[in-house]
Amino acid sequence: MSTNARSVASRLSSSGFIRTQGFIGGKWVDAYDGKTIEVYNPATGEVITNVACMGGRETKDAITSAHNTFLSWSKLTAAERSRCLRKWFDLIMANKEELGQLMTLEQGKPLDEAMGEVTYGASYIEFYAEEAKRVYGDIIPAALPDRRLFVMKQPVGVVGAITPWNFPLAMITRKVAPALACGCTVVIKPSELTPLTALAAAELSIQAGIPPGAVNVVMGSASDIGEALLASPQVRKITFTGSTTVGKKLMAGAAETVKKVSLELGGNAPCIIFDDADLDVALKGTMATKFRNSGQTCVCANRILVQEGIYDKFSIAFSKAVESMKVGDGFVEGVAQGPIINDSALHKVESFVQDAISKGAKVLIGGKRHSLGMTFYEPTVIGDVKSEMLLAREEVFGPVAPLMKFKTEEEAIHIANDTNAGLAAYMFTTSIKRSWRVSEALEYGLVGINEGQISTEVAPFGGMKQSGLGREGSKYGMDEYLEIKYVCLGNMS
Ligand code: SIN
Repeated sequence: MSTNARSVASRLSSSGFIRTQGFIGGKWVDAYDGKTIEVYNPATGEVITNVACMGGRETKDAITSAHNTFLSWSKLTAAERSRCLRKWFDLIMANKEELGQLMTLEQGKPLDEAMGEVTYGASYIEFYAEEAKRVYGDIIPAALPDRRLFVMKQPVGVVGAITPWNFPLAMITRKVAPALACGCTVVIKPSELTPLTALAAAELSIQAGIPPGAVNVVMGSASDIGEALLASPQVRKITFTGSTTVGKKLMAGAAETVKKVSLELGGNAPCIIFDDADLDVALKGTMATKFRNSGQTCVCANRILVQEGIYDKFSIAFSKAVESMKVGDGFVEGVAQGPIINDSALHKVESFVQDAISKGAKVLIGGKRHSLGMTFYEPTVIGDVKSEMLLAREEVFGPVAPLMKFKTEEEAIHIANDTNAGLAAYMFTTSIKRSWRVSEALEYGLVGINEGQISTEVAPFGGMKQSGLGREGSKYGMDEYLEIKYVCLGNMS
């Protein structure tokens, strides 16, 4: 590890901020067979620590504990649950720096970006602390005079939350905060690549007064943990952020016990720059959506469609901006792009770029591993990308910006929708009429117009087509954790 990363790790470790055991029923526990897995710093390849490598048995105990706690947590008043969530938010914000450092250590994103994720992640807890008090029911005018009809909303029960490595905190809070707000309890399986932030957040949940057993964390064997969550009739909901392949397996597995499922899966985001765009706005927005988290988000622009009249001007200015990005260890001042998460992700990026070159695309900037070694990759712009290339068909999940030229609005819409994915789409234009027209035509759950960073706790996040099911964040995110119960009161005359 670099000196800085090493001293940060040892400080966090000696202050007790780095936890290495799973969290079941409010207790820190080792894997039952004593197994551990190494957690790496992707910027240096060095081991930060070893954490418990858990499986089915630990998961079953976590489910039992979540189920027992559900019986009391769901009976609290909304105001009581709200106060616990608010305290959790306060504690996360009070520990923003430490959480950000932990995230940079295990995930690699630049420290400023990591601290930004802490604020972003915490914002879901603050929002749902408030929303807890707004789970309203309904009274329905009855069809018969002696009846009274009510609708009440109740928590679904125990939730299994399976979360990815690219947002080690925010993807947890976006699921766990609404679940807890509704009265559910949770078993979290964080990515085995980034469990440390999740464990630190779990510790803060206990300090906040969220009762033992309401939040459990098990990490290790993804298949064993996933199977235990799916098999249990006590788990009433699975919420997952990750690949489309795994999402489909979870959906099929959840059918056996007919669980509620929400899935936030892969994207293939088009970013359409029209001739009438404000060039500076388009440059800023495209940089933001493409290079956030080294291109490792499901909402990163994956295909940059540029209209022929502005193509040359945009590609020159964009390449210049990309070339100026500083790459390096996330703890180094001014670094805008950290490493890619691991070797297999790096190989995927390399193979997509090779595929494009072999089919006639041109490397405008970058296009190869960075001289820093490890999994660092040069911020890259590839011109003349065509629909048949892997870069256009699948999510590259790395710092590679493919430019595709188009002639008309109709053609741009056709290219944008020509995919099974439907998470985020972006467009840059100064025409209000076109903004409405194209937004309506895009088969995507999120549309950014003249803006590349559109995620917020107050708006619904989720995809259409094979990008997923359900919505996270906003008032809509609550429904994912609630059952609707209809009550008919008869004999009232
Ligand atoms: C994701 O990439 O899965 C989430 C991105 C976001 O919340 O903006």
